Amino acid sequence: MRTPLVAGNWKMNGSRDANRALLSSLKDRLGAIQGVDVAVCPPAVYLPEIAESLSGSAIAVGAQDCSDEASGAFTGELAGSMLAEVGCRYVIVGHSERRERQNESSAWVASKFVAAQAAGLTPILCVGEQKADRESGRTELVVSEQLDAVLDAAGVEAFDRAVIAYEPVWAIGTGLTATPEQAQEVHAFIRNRVAGRDPRVAAELRILYGGSMKADNAAGLLALDDIDGGLIGGASLDAEAFTAIVRAAGERVGA
Ligand code: PGA
Repeated sequence: MRTPLVAGNWKMNGSRDANRALLSSLKDRLGAIQGVDVAVCPPAVYLPEIAESLSGSAIAVGAQDCSDEASGAFTGELAGSMLAEVGCRYVIVGHSERRERQNESSAWVASKFVAAQAAGLTPILCVGEQKADRESGRTELVVSEQLDAVLDAAGVEAFDRAVIAYEPVWAIGTGLTATPEQAQEVHAFIRNRVAGRDPRVAAELRILYGGSMKADNAAGLLALDDIDGGLIGGASLDAEAFTAIVRAAGERVGA
């Protein structure tokens, strides 16, 4: 049985005051949550104080990116070991916003994945196609290229300590969600591709959906066989909406 994971990707949002209010509301609402792993991924500058305020709670902390290098002359970058030291358990790698704006290639994302694991972090590897890829029938090709780069660099067994997030780029922040059928199809494709290398790893691998997952569409997505949670952007900034998604993931367990 795969324990679902619901992770909030706060992106470049928040302030000390807003973070405190959001986290105190989340702690109240999620205090006794069981059977679902929950994480928040705030902007890096807030990680130490947030990790401290969540220590001993059921909510884990993740970063939104890390360097592919361990240390040295890399101005502005953050090493996985630093993120681990201040209390991160997870780190998002290869988010489409970074693949686009920072020109992160799949090879570079694969190096970040390897570096994150070397530092003891659990990478949340994002993959997903653009609208034009879907419309031209290239979804599986694009997702395979993104996934195979990491499988080749890290080896399939590395996915015992990793999570994948399938995020169709056209659904991120747009209010357009993949239908449950569209999402399930790609999730099954990803699991099968990993199974081609190692069926046991694939069976245990958590594959999250991301892209305008909200309180009102979460249950439909989370009910599907190969959807093991969510990577939540906009709705993770709203304690009530995020909690509702976590609860929907918890109900999936009992189903
Ligand atoms: P969204 O973002 O939920 O706002 O679409 C998801 C993500 O980019 O991780």
